[in-house]
Amino acid sequence: MKDQTKSKTGASVNRLEGALKVMGKAKYSSEFAIDNLAFAQGIQSTISAGKITSIDTSLAEKQEGVIKIITHENALKLKGYGGRFEEPDTKSISPSLQTPDVHYYGEYIGVVVAETFEQARYAANLVKVTYAKSEPKFIFDEHLDELYMPKEINDKAKTNTQWGDVEKGLKDAYKTIDVTYNTPVEHHHPMELHNIIATWEGDKVIAYASTQIVAHAVKTIADTFEIPEDNVRVITPYVGGGFGSKLQLREHGTLGIMASKMIGRPVQLTVTRHEMFTAVGFRQHNRQHMRLGADKEGNLTALSHETSAATSTYEEFQEPCGAISQTLYNTPNSLVTHKLMKLNLPSPRWMRAPGEAPGSFALESAMDELAYKLQMDPAEFRIKNDTQHDLSVDKPFSSRQFVECIRIGAEKFDWKNKWKPTPGHTKKENWLVGYGMSGSSRQSPYMESSALIKLKLDNDKVQVTVQTDATDIGTGSYTIIGQTISEYLDIPLEQISVELGDSKFPKTPGSGGSWGAASYTNGVKVACDNAISTLKTLASTSEDLSVIELMKKADLTEFEAKGTAGPTEEFENYSVYSFGANFCEVWVDEYSGMVRLEHFVNVGSAGKILNPKTAYGQIIGGITWGVGQALTEHSQVEPNHGNFITRSFADYHVPVNLDLGKIDVIFLPEDDYIANPMGVKGIGELGITSIAAAIANAVFNATGKRVRDLPITPEKIM
Ligand code: MOS
Repeated sequence: MKDQTKSKTGASVNRLEGALKVMGKAKYSSEFAIDNLAFAQGIQSTISAGKITSIDTSLAEKQEGVIKIITHENALKLKGYGGRFEEPDTKSISPSLQTPDVHYYGEYIGVVVAETFEQARYAANLVKVTYAKSEPKFIFDEHLDELYMPKEINDKAKTNTQWGDVEKGLKDAYKTIDVTYNTPVEHHHPMELHNIIATWEGDKVIAYASTQIVAHAVKTIADTFEIPEDNVRVITPYVGGGFGSKLQLREHGTLGIMASKMIGRPVQLTVTRHEMFTAVGFRQHNRQHMRLGADKEGNLTALSHETSAATSTYEEFQEPCGAISQTLYNTPNSLVTHKLMKLNLPSPRWMRAPGEAPGSFALESAMDELAYKLQMDPAEFRIKNDTQHDLSVDKPFSSRQFVECIRIGAEKFDWKNKWKPTPGHTKKENWLVGYGMSGSSRQSPYMESSALIKLKLDNDKVQVTVQTDATDIGTGSYTIIGQTISEYLDIPLEQISVELGDSKFPKTPGSGGSWGAASYTNGVKVACDNAISTLKTLASTSEDLSVIELMKKADLTEFEAKGTAGPTEEFENYSVYSFGANFCEVWVDEYSGMVRLEHFVNVGSAGKILNPKTAYGQIIGGITWGVGQALTEHSQVEPNHGNFITRSFADYHVPVNLDLGKIDVIFLPEDDYIANPMGVKGIGELGITSIAAAIANAVFNATGKRVRDLPITPEKIM
């Protein structure tokens, strides 16, 4: 057999679709040329609580090109809205325009359909809405007495846990800390705007929808419009980023599909960048109260992580900030709780590393604070508190190289020679130089995933086509799926064509929650294994022949095989997590308080790395997010109207290349065959986890200022 070393899993293969993307030939959902397409534009509320009393559409209707204006008065009646939604799920119904109620500023209260996008947008501005306002609530600090513990969420997700006796652990400690961290509202902004093109034929609908999970989008549409799932087709071959905002088909999807049905024409609805600040979810503001204690030797005696956050008035959404505190360290006494209050804001949603991103900022800052109090090296303090057992569920970890990540990162960074316990130890001209580190971990889920492979003998070559409804949200799904085929069928990548993102293909769990890579590739591997074993039977041989020899022997020119993989019972007996460590050097300007990132070392242990190049891209992307979280990203609620003031990249700042400095990414070798047969764990969320803490800890080491409220803007340091 020929060895496909250069295209197998583990090789740094260039993205299979890279050239298509560069040439503009990769078709995103808004780029399908559909005949007779009309364009829709949403109308957003300009109050944050109350009822619509009248909508005057007469002027808007007279404008050139306007086809229809849809409001709650004439909208299609959709299933399931009884004044309160269920706890949001990635496949729950998504009704819109069903009542005159307004729950937040920027809520879609209507949609204008016109011949062109510009005509729709212009007319949308001419719709006059009158409201009966009610007393809104949107300032977190004014409603602290309304915090409650949402029981349903906890029963389902076990977000709240406790073992041992935290108060006693704190009392017995040699040193303790009792501090509160705040992380602000943040927004996810994938490069590709949210979009749908919907087209009906009878009671069947095709939706070209930018989404992370095709099967869930199908279910959402079927349930919302009360049609069988078989009548829904979702197509999304390329997705220009999601970060959690595209896990669900949101209201714009419903509006596009509804509009198309109502006018009997295909309709495109693209959410504008401006609208994306309110229409597609965001990361909620979290207030995290941390109490930690440790004995003289640096063993943790107690860890209490209590989170307060805000959800909307109509849904309960909670980010599990305390999850990382349940599993990262050996905590004999532990308390993790989450509380919510209801505000007139849009519902928050999953955003990259939901829970861990803000939770790790609190935990890993608190660990740093306690290390300084104990006069211990923060890296050694973490190593001392390692555990190979997941205390929160009483299961061993399938693999855990947390200590190795810290040790190797420290060596690469030269931590022992650089870090000094006295803040302000090193000055270069006007720059205060500081060093910080953090540990990280993220659960690595694995879910049932299927694939279909089609083999075709063509001029003495086998051409392979693989089809799954998996999505590539910029992460490299095309490439790692191609590599998996190349490895298990021993066929060069040039002969493999990967087709993704179509609901007519076999089901996968989609891209999200760091489960995509492991799930997709295992499903594809089983399809390959099935192909080989069936071909052997058909060829009446037990020899290890090549695919081409098997097909010839079996007298076949075409052949198909399907495969499905999923977690086994053994998987359920373990906690499967990826781990990491971060080390960073910051320079802080002593006159302006500006923080400059100089050097970052990230070490990850995440099972087999299917493609170091695409994996590196994921981690770099995650670190960039973490830098934004640490230094710039912050959405503020306008105190009179309750809208997010930041509505563009001019005022919502994200880091660019020049803000980043040098970044080294290291993956430790690890094949975790408990996690799954491919030995793969997730990295999508690991990259952002604990980045902000490493930076904040370095800022403390540079300046002696402990900034507990993100982002670390200059005025907080001065
Ligand atoms: Mo991720 S927040 O599950 O896309």
